[in-house]
Amino acid sequence: MSSSLILRAEAIDKSYPGVHALDHVDFDLYEGEVHALLGENGAGKSTFMKILSGSLPKDSGRIFLRGQEVDIVGPYHARELGIGMVYQELSVIPGLSVAENIFLGRLPKRKPLGTVDWSEAMSQAKRILDDLGVDVDPRERVGNLSMGEQQLTEIAKALSMKAQILLLDEPSSALSDEERERLFSIMRGLQERGVAIIYVSHRLVEVPQIGQRVTVLRDGAKVGTLPVDQADEATLIRMMVGRELREKFPKDEIQRGKEILRIQGLTVRGVLNNLNLNLYEGEILGIFGVLGAGRTDFARALFGVDPIDSGEVFLNGRKINISCPSDAIELGLGYLTEDRKDGLILRLTIPANITLASLKRISRLGFLNQGEERATAEKYVKELDIHTPKLDQKVEFLSGGNQQKVALAKWLCSRAKVLIFDEPTRGIDVGAKIEVFRLMNDLAKQGVGIIMLSSELPEVLAMADRILVMAGGSFTAEYARGQASQEDLMRDAVVK
Ligand SMILES: Nc1ncnc2c1ncn2[C@@H]1O[C@H](COP(=O)(O)OP(=O)(O)OP(=O)(O)O)[C@@H](O)[C@H]1O
Ligand SMILES: [Mg+2]
Repeated sequence: MSSSLILRAEAIDKSYPGVHALDHVDFDLYEGEVHALLGENGAGKSTFMKILSGSLPKDSGRIFLRGQEVDIVGPYHARELGIGMVYQELSVIPGLSVAENIFLGRLPKRKPLGTVDWSEAMSQAKRILDDLGVDVDPRERVGNLSMGEQQLTEIAKALSMKAQILLLDEPSSALSDEERERLFSIMRGLQERGVAIIYVSHRLVEVPQIGQRVTVLRDGAKVGTLPVDQADEATLIRMMVGRELREKFPKDEIQRGKEILRIQGLTVRGVLNNLNLNLYEGEILGIFGVLGAGRTDFARALFGVDPIDSGEVFLNGRKINISCPSDAIELGLGYLTEDRKDGLILRLTIPANITLASLKRISRLGFLNQGEERATAEKYVKELDIHTPKLDQKVEFLSGGNQQKVALAKWLCSRAKVLIFDEPTRGIDVGAKIEVFRLMNDLAKQGVGIIMLSSELPEVLAMADRILVMAGGSFTAEYARGQASQEDLMRDAVVK
């Protein structure tokens, strides 16, 4: 490689109680390079990035910046050294505006008084957002934005720091295809200016699109580094998982049963327009749409998170009223939210989280049957291959993808008859995705009706028995399995 080495990490080692998260990892990064960092859930990717960004101390090992050994003592120090990071779990503050988040602790000041120069802050923020092609008002509260927009705000924040080394931990997981493309073009622009980027993603297709080299971690150890032209998908999977994976989408043909859910005229003024839908036992109904199409609004309205203005819902032919999520759970509905943190209590253990929506079933006379709680949790930890040193681990200490698996297990455990899965495979590694799809098949065989909201086209096309396309708060098209192409869905997903 002709450009110069900007960062070198030597024998980075890190352990948590019971977990050797990084095992003497060597890594190097060149100016102007996008270096993809891959590995299964829990492989150590985020741990490595957090050490480079100063938010986590290493146990041992050395870090060199342009040949000089450095001891990165904290995030501010890292920023001074020209290292910026986008964290996997969004760190935006919901109560603050977009501009305040972007310039957190660094708002432009007016001389000589040192008061905040708001008009400058707003116009600088606007410029960065425009570059990213994000159409949000810098004055908007971040809490009012969608997940994708929050993720873009987080990216804008890192870009505003004008870092020389940019660490991106799954920056694209909540973005639509279009936004992802925009992120890539910005990354290319940064590369041209010599910025070096480490990029973590579970979307293997992105690797040749954006990276020059790729490094794979497995169980905290480095498996190898390759130029992308030698890193086809099969090779990467073998390096990550240690074996070949057969079918990516193991879809079973399941005879659908009777109608289980019917929705008529569901309306939330200005958000959802007169939605009609029916769902059958054993059916996986995919709902595809781009960011802002209203998929999540629909799920929230159905589950009683947000109030509806009009519309009727029938479960097994009986009209039901859902005015809050506990009504929905009581009636046998489940909802895996887009943001896993909404569905988990991070400070509680894995068993406590998995049984959260099933407490009635595993309690006797108001007392939780702890033996049953553990046995249930053990079963899902095994089935979903949740990486943890012990069953009683607090969920906050799990890697992002493993947290997502716990959130999923919670609804699998609930024995709901209708499940709404919003981006069920977000942040989940290639192997675990297949397990999730298998579990969806199993649920369908038991007669559960599944509504799968997804922005992953291949996943919707392969797994859904029927697909509804959503755009601008309306359903714009319906296809039976095998009748739609990617192009069809994209065309219907764009608001006319
Ligand atoms: N604060 C912590 N306390 C204890 N263990 C932790 C902590 N943070 C991470 N771990 C463990 O360290 C290992 C590596 O986690 P890390 O978050 O780096 O994985 P990752 O490769 O980023 O995975 P993912 O793809 O799921 O984000 C995991 O086994 C995880 O459970
Ligand atoms: Mg991670």
